[in-house]
Amino acid sequence: MTKPHMNPYSRHIFICTGHYCDPDGKAAQLYSQLAHLLGPLGDYQNPNRVKRGTTPCLGVCSAGPIVVVYPEGIWYHHVDQVVIRRIIHEHLIHNSPVEEYIFHRLKR
Ligand code: FES
Repeated sequence: MTKPHMNPYSRHIFICTGHYCDPDGKAAQLYSQLAHLLGPLGDYQNPNRVKRGTTPCLGVCSAGPIVVVYPEGIWYHHVDQVVIRRIIHEHLIHNSPVEEYIFHRLKR
């Protein structure tokens, strides 16, 4: 059995595309723009790469679109085009989470 290979990465961002937290379907649009918005941070060869993914539910189910960034476990609510850009610029690039949109942090 051959193990799969994983290139290094530093963070993972998930966007919920479920209808309960995002009845207007805005999250799918955010996700489709994410590769472009991440720029070099999304490059497969970048050791600080940010992996991205969608999920049908994150167990919150309101106030979406909901976005969570790991490994910090920082959860954002009401993420729109402006907020996702701020998350990328302030949190992912400058390590300064966007406080006013955070509603939960993973307890470590
Ligand atoms: S539908 Fe988005 S968190 Fe459940």
